[in-house]
Parts: sequence; C-alpha cells; structure tokens
Amino acid sequence: MNYPLISKSQNNITPNFPDYQKTYKEFSWEKGRKEIAYFDDGTVNIAHNALDKWKGSETEHKTAFIWEDDETSRSFTYGDLIAETNKFANMLSKLGIQKGDRVFMFLPRIPELYISFLGTLKVGAIAGNLFAAFGYEALEDRLADSEAKVLVTTHELEERVKKVKDQLPHLKHIILVDAEATEHGEISYSREMKAASDQFETAHMQESDPSYMLYTSGTTGKPKGVVHTHGDIVQEHITGKWILDMKANDIYWCTADPGWVTGVVYGIISPWSNGLTQLVHGGRFDPDRWYSLIEKHQVTVWYTAPTAIRMLMTNPELLKKHNLSSLRYVCSVGEPLNPEAIVWGQKYLNLPIHDNYWQTETGSIVIANYLSMDIKPGSMGKPFPGIHAGIIDDEGGELGPGKEGDLALKKGWPSMMKEIWKNPKKYESYFKGDWYITGDRAMKDEDGYFWFIGRADDVIKTSGERVGPFEVESALLKHPAVAEAGVIGKPDEVRGEIIKAFIKLKPGQEGSEALKEEIQKFIKEELAGHAYPREIEFRDTLPKTRSGKIMRRVLKMEELGQDVGDTSTMEEY
Ligand code: PRX
Repeated sequence: MNYPLISKSQNNITPNFPDYQKTYKEFSWEKGRKEIAYFDDGTVNIAHNALDKWKGSETEHKTAFIWEDDETSRSFTYGDLIAETNKFANMLSKLGIQKGDRVFMFLPRIPELYISFLGTLKVGAIAGNLFAAFGYEALEDRLADSEAKVLVTTHELEERVKKVKDQLPHLKHIILVDAEATEHGEISYSREMKAASDQFETAHMQESDPSYMLYTSGTTGKPKGVVHTHGDIVQEHITGKWILDMKANDIYWCTADPGWVTGVVYGIISPWSNGLTQLVHGGRFDPDRWYSLIEKHQVTVWYTAPTAIRMLMTNPELLKKHNLSSLRYVCSVGEPLNPEAIVWGQKYLNLPIHDNYWQTETGSIVIANYLSMDIKPGSMGKPFPGIHAGIIDDEGGELGPGKEGDLALKKGWPSMMKEIWKNPKKYESYFKGDWYITGDRAMKDEDGYFWFIGRADDVIKTSGERVGPFEVESALLKHPAVAEAGVIGKPDEVRGEIIKAFIKLKPGQEGSEALKEEIQKFIKEELAGHAYPREIEFRDTLPKTRSGKIMRRVLKMEELGQDVGDTSTMEEY
C-alpha cells in the first residue's frame, strides 16, 4: 500500500530549521562551529558546552534535569549539574585519572550516570557506558578491551563484575554510587562527593581528542569500541537544534538508555547543549506510565523508537485516559519506522512521527525528516546539511534514483567516529575511497528522499538494539549442551526482529522445552537481558561452508521460506 505524502507541519511554531533546500546548499561545518562554545585558545570540551557555558546566564538557575523512576523523583538545575560534575571530576583527579584514561559507567538510568559521564569528560578522560543489562561475558569483553581504569557502578551490579574482576588487571578503582561503607576497597561515591570541591577547571581538548567510546556489534567477531571526539559537539548540538527542533522552553524526553549512542548524544549532550529541560525516566517501559509522564511533565518534544511506538499502538484504549496535547513534535530512530506507525501518530497524537537515521559510528543523525519538510511515510528523509549521502555500487560508483545499493556517506563530517579502539584494520574496512560504508542497503528516490531496505550483513536489530550474531553464538557455545550454534534476526511485527538460534546439541543431549529455557537463562546471565534468543530450534546439522563456517544466510532464507539455491558448495546441509 502506498501512503500519501504528509504535508509539513502547519502548527504555529516556527521551526529552528525552516528551509531545507536553501540551507543544504549554503551550509558548511564552519558555520556550524559558530554555534559552539570554544575556549579562548581554540580548544573545546563537550561538557563545557553541555553545562559550564551556562554559568552566569539565566539558564544556570533553570531546571536542566527532571529524573523520575517508579518510586521517587529528583531534579537538578544547570547550576546543580555544573557543581556535581565538578565534584566528580575532582574525585577522578584525586584518583590520578588523566586525559585519555578510560572511565566506564555500568549503571542503570539514575542521575549519577549522567553526572559521572559528564564529569569524566571534564577531566579529559574517555567515558564509556555499559548497558545495565550486560552479563559477565559482555562486561569482561568491553572492560578488558578498553583497559578501563575506573568503573562506576552500583552494589547490585558489582556482583557481576566481581566474577570477571581477575581478568581485568587494568581496572584499578570501583566507585559504588549507593554504598557509604565499602568492603573490598571500593570507593564510596557519596563520601567522596561530599568531600570534593565543586570548583573544577574543565580540560581544554583538541577537537580530535577522544571524548566517549561505545561498544557496538558487527557481523563478525566481538564488539568493537567506537571512539568519538570532543569535536563531535558541533554536529551533536546543531542536529539537536535543527532536527529535533530543541528550543530553550521545551520539556524534552528521549527514551533511549545511555548504554546506547542515542541515549548519550540525544539523552545527555545535545539537549543540555541546547539549554532545555530534559526528562529521564529511570523505570522500565510501561505504556500507562509513559503516557502519565508526558502528561505530568507536559513534555513537548519526544524522541523515541519504533518498537516502543508499536507497543503503544497495541493499546489505543489507554490513550483515552491521558491528555497528551502538550506534545508538539515526535521523532523516532534506530530501526525502520513503518508507515502504519506514522499514521497512528497522526490519528492518536495529532502529530506525524518524524523518522531519522544514524549509527553509533556516525555519532549524530545524518539523514532525517524535518519539521519543515513533507514526510513520505516509510522514508528516512533527506541528508542533513553538510552530509553527502549516496547509494553506491560494489565499485563505489554512485547510483541514480530508484536503484538499490549500499548506503554510503562522504567521509569527514564532525561526529564521524575517530577510530575503532586498538583495531585500525577494522576502522579502514568501513571506507571505500572517499566513502564511509554504513552496512545498510537503501534507495534514493527522484525527490532525494532515502528509503531503508535492510542490513547488508547479519547484524540484528531487536527492539532497536544492535546485537551481533557472533557474540550470541560464542555465548551459546559456552553452554555445556551446545555443540554448534547459528544465530539470525527473525522478522517480528513489534520488535522489528527477534533473535533466533539454531543449535546442534552435543552427543547424548536431548532437545526439550526445559533445555531451551535453561539456555535462554544462561545467555541472559552471560551476555545480556536483551540479547538472548527468544526462539531456539534444535537441528541435527547446521549448514556450513567447506571451511566449517556456519551459513547464517542459509538459515535465514530457510526461516523466511526462500529458495536456498545451490547447496553444492556447502560441506554439511
Ligand atoms: O541498520 C540501521 C539501523 O540501526 C543501525 C545503527 O544502529 P546503532 O549503531 O545501534 O545506532 C543507533 C543510533 C540510531 C543502522 O545501521 N537504523 C538506525 N536508524 C534507522 C535504522 N534503520 C532504519 N531506519 C532508521 N531510521
């Protein structure tokens, strides 16, 4: 079914970015830089832009942060956050943490996560976030590879770290945010914060100096550390202003967890760099609660994800209980936004949902639907000014409208990843000549709108979260009953994809429902709560190449009922 064009917003709010065509033609990143607070010596710091630059202005006294979980709430002015992050920076300095050291946060969505992240940037150390659902193996992989010196966590989450601590010789300090007294040499956050000064000289950083790193999954191998810089702020700030239309009087809610890049860039940095009030919900997804939060805090701009929207869509009755008229603008990211969801937004929220596209590696939004532009439901929109996006063939040649190919970006935008941590070969593999290859397949139409088609590789997107099949397969192989495993993303109406594992058991093992459940529990503990296979199928053999590699593509085609074609090159089938 073809969905009609949705005309650009007719409400009386003037978009921050009113004229796409004109600005796209005239824009340069140099112009973007004019929006950024540099130090007098030409250096910069993301945390200075998010917080310190507001010191002495009216914004210093305004609410920056409303935090609420299911039991309690807290709120902070910009001034409060400046003081808290200064204290944290002093705490790190006292521990001897310096520019370039890695400080990792393994925390749920609580205020201390936001404070320690920005406090780390103030020192010039590299901040890394670990999703609170991570299990032992996921933690060990990331903390060992990054050689993190400090880990900020909670008493409860520390239990998982203890199990792998012996494998982490670089980890010198564990800071516990919820413990006064500590048993094993950990540091008490509250005790140190009380003692620390609230004055700190934020580190002056070059644009090319690292700021934060996040581990993300590809199709092969363990997760890779994607490193970003302080120069990212140029794009982080201006995309928030122009795409998410952030205005100083907005109450803004980004539902993403800072364990993922959206939660870092548009859930910490960009909203505060744009001087608005942001809401963070510390609890789990719950439709009734989510609507209540919008209503209670009069949220105006809402940045969320397709899976959440699809879950909300299953219960239209609930909407009748709530008044969501404070919302003026809704955006979505992370996975394909189906046109039905956009239509739902129009019908029930009286607002179309604006889809946008980016990746951990791109560091900021690169393609978007803008408030000032008509929406073609199902399309990701058009490239942001300063971004040249193209559809290319295998040789790197740009394809014309209507042709499917690899979605690529001309390299050199400010928030492009700086490196893959300790893996220059992997970094290089992203590029073909001048092009950065996203790993996504897409098409561009006659009007310049981009349409997502699918991943070019085996990366899985489940509920908007990126999961590498290799990581799941290697965790599966640790289970004593599993001999071989192949993992794919299986299309799912609500979650986009779910993880499905095909497993060959060791001799003497019997496949049963009980064993499936045991394996699922095992993966949740080893790897992560979101990365376990919701479906498991036991097989006597798995399709393999002559060199013994399990062919996920064949498993996927079979799952989709497609013709597998010539199987003669396979060793086992
Ligand atoms: O496959 C694309 C999908 O998410 C991938 C990036 O995932 P991640 O690094 O976790 O970044 C999350 C930040 C958004 C992309 O390669 N993706 C992202 N946005 C969209 C999307 N797929 C379809 N439509 C989108 N709007």
